[in-house]
Amino acid sequence: MKRNRYYLLVLSIVFGLFSCKNESKNDLALNSKNSTENSSIESKVEALLNKMTLEEKVGQMNQYTGFWDVTGPTPKEGNQALKYEHLKKGLVGSMINVTGSKNVRAVQKIAVEESRLGIPLIIGFDVIHGFKTLSPIPLAESASWDMDAIELSAKVAAKEAAASGINWTFAPMVDVSRDARWGRVMEGAGEDAYLGSKIATARVHGFQGADLSSKETIAACAKHFAAYGFAESGKDYNTVDIGTSTLYNVIFPPFIAAKNAGVRTFMNSFNEINGIPATGSAFLQREILKKQWGFDGFIVSDWGSINEMVAHRQAKNGKEATEIAANAGSDMDMESHLYVSELVNLVNEGKVKESVIDDAVRRILRVKFELGLFENPYKYCDEAYEKDVVGSKEINEAVLDVAKKSIVLLKNENNVLPLKKEGQKIALIGALADDKTSPLGNWRIGAEDGTAVSVLEGMQKYKGNTLFFEKGAEFVSGETVFAKELNINVSDKSEFIKATAIAKKADVVVMVLGEHGYQSGEGRSRSSLGLPGVQQELLEAVYKANSNIVLVLNNGRPLAVTWADEHIPAIVEAWQLGTQSGNAIAQVLYGDYNPSGKLPMTFPRSVGQVPIYYNVKSTGRPNMPAPGEVFWSHYSDITNKPLYPFGYGLSYTTFSYTDINVKNVKDNSFEISVTLTNTGNVTGKEVAQLYLKDDYASVTRPVKELKGFELVKLNPNESKTITFLLTENELGFYNNQGDFIVESGDFTVFVGGDSEAELTTKFELK
Ligand code: BGC
Repeated sequence: MKRNRYYLLVLSIVFGLFSCKNESKNDLALNSKNSTENSSIESKVEALLNKMTLEEKVGQMNQYTGFWDVTGPTPKEGNQALKYEHLKKGLVGSMINVTGSKNVRAVQKIAVEESRLGIPLIIGFDVIHGFKTLSPIPLAESASWDMDAIELSAKVAAKEAAASGINWTFAPMVDVSRDARWGRVMEGAGEDAYLGSKIATARVHGFQGADLSSKETIAACAKHFAAYGFAESGKDYNTVDIGTSTLYNVIFPPFIAAKNAGVRTFMNSFNEINGIPATGSAFLQREILKKQWGFDGFIVSDWGSINEMVAHRQAKNGKEATEIAANAGSDMDMESHLYVSELVNLVNEGKVKESVIDDAVRRILRVKFELGLFENPYKYCDEAYEKDVVGSKEINEAVLDVAKKSIVLLKNENNVLPLKKEGQKIALIGALADDKTSPLGNWRIGAEDGTAVSVLEGMQKYKGNTLFFEKGAEFVSGETVFAKELNINVSDKSEFIKATAIAKKADVVVMVLGEHGYQSGEGRSRSSLGLPGVQQELLEAVYKANSNIVLVLNNGRPLAVTWADEHIPAIVEAWQLGTQSGNAIAQVLYGDYNPSGKLPMTFPRSVGQVPIYYNVKSTGRPNMPAPGEVFWSHYSDITNKPLYPFGYGLSYTTFSYTDINVKNVKDNSFEISVTLTNTGNVTGKEVAQLYLKDDYASVTRPVKELKGFELVKLNPNESKTITFLLTENELGFYNNQGDFIVESGDFTVFVGGDSEAELTTKFELK
């Protein structure tokens, strides 16, 4: 056991270390602007709050989804008419799923011109990876490890959404997850807290920019607080039961990063955590987020999650759920319709204090003022501007750029790739190759079906080759998949023969296989991680006809494509890459873009290995004691090794890592340097990664943890010395009381191109 050298309270971490470290130009600009504007916003909030009746205050805490065609006749009866009446009475603070500047203007006009106090609505929408023009799904984008590209992607998404009337996105999702069965891994940054924190920062900066009141930026929302990604057995909405160490060291860091980047809202989550539904957790919302982290924005519930506390059986009925959620610090009710119906009575009965309501309303009004909605409630409602911005060249170029950077080359035996540009016969096979909807991925409600560039279209732009195309097996359309879930690529193999026929006459076969865009996402957990439907059989049938195959995977989660890894010479992980998907894939296949992506999640060999992740604990029996021994931590039917490790990805060039050195630069800071050389024939980019192992600690630490990375571009034979700085932020960890501590002792570092990096050195923190 080691001595605690530095014992730092959680507060000092949140306000000190992390905030200094992460403070970028954007944060600084925001901070100085804030200091001059804060006091005036605060006094405006107070002045308004003083004028509000209890009903109007509760109204600010109520969010409704779009409920009628706003530019059509107003609803006269039923639920819709009631919601409309509420809007007029100032009993609605926010609406979601109203889009288009004309529609937003129409609802905003009712709130502003017909309600007593004219408080503008905050208009939210799930701008998860773009609005109408889509970037890659977030998991894919995370594979770029390129923070500038990720920030730009969020920035153009914000610009396009804002031009369509939206001023608040329910993104970024910063839930760490180690379980590929969970469909929502597509929406996050993968399995790692450190990478996830950097990406959370980039996304918040991208959405919110330096000025929230600009008409190009929107408020962001860190979700789902907390631990939604740790649902048991990867089944969506399932129970979460985790210890303090995982909560503080793995789950919280990306949320802290988002908070420090200035995120203005948080969303709580559907899951219970250690017996308490997150929506009703005072520990998470009041104690951690609002008190310890000092978050002064507001928390929105997840869709209907206040009401779900009844199904969780924490609350007897909706009224009790309302009492628990409001007292726990859940500020806005998304679509449970409970705050608006129950909160006034609960205050009158003394079960919820009016100060609780005031605190929530202050937070909501604060964000509305920051967005500039009071100055001009229609600033997001300019139809001419909307026409110019939505689908613009600038936005399409940005999403193409990040799409290329998201592609990961998993295998390239005999340099099958890049494809030759002339004189080749190429067989393109797979229904996904000709699909213009699936590449949009899930969480794309603003985009229209059929608006992605397909792989077929992308490849057709390269005219020097002869291209044959066959689907091989039919895929059902996006909407059908949405409705029927996994009823995909059923059992019809009658088209295989056409696919094998074109494979036979081709020099090289490109097969686009994987998951449809709607096979991952919310409610889309899977118990198997192979290629769905008859695709594995199609792959094997084509392989028999021509084994010179490039397999292009389209998927929203890691897949266990073990057979493919053993047989197929080239494998490209192309996820669901958004609007420009086919162009990005074609440019990589033809070598116009040298792939540089690295996996943000471990790929398993078999679903039985899941959850599988690189930063595991040692256990008491980590290694086989002697050949053939049984009693150590392993499976008897499969290796502990993943199919592809976290951080892994190839390039059309090769890189070497040499000359690792460590220097104690200050008392508790160490500089690790290494020489990275491009040893191949073409220019390429490499993500150099540093992993740290705390050799012994009072609370067991993982075998290694990512603590630094740098994306480096090098010409052939070019070398660069890369330095990583390790400070107390990287050397310390949270103990089981939730305190951040730094312990003296030995540390080992590993530097290389993935989490199995072997170049190593050691140092001692005295
Ligand atoms: C999801 C949230 C989303 C919300 C609004 C919920 O089902 O869990 O992430 O923001 O719906 O669409």
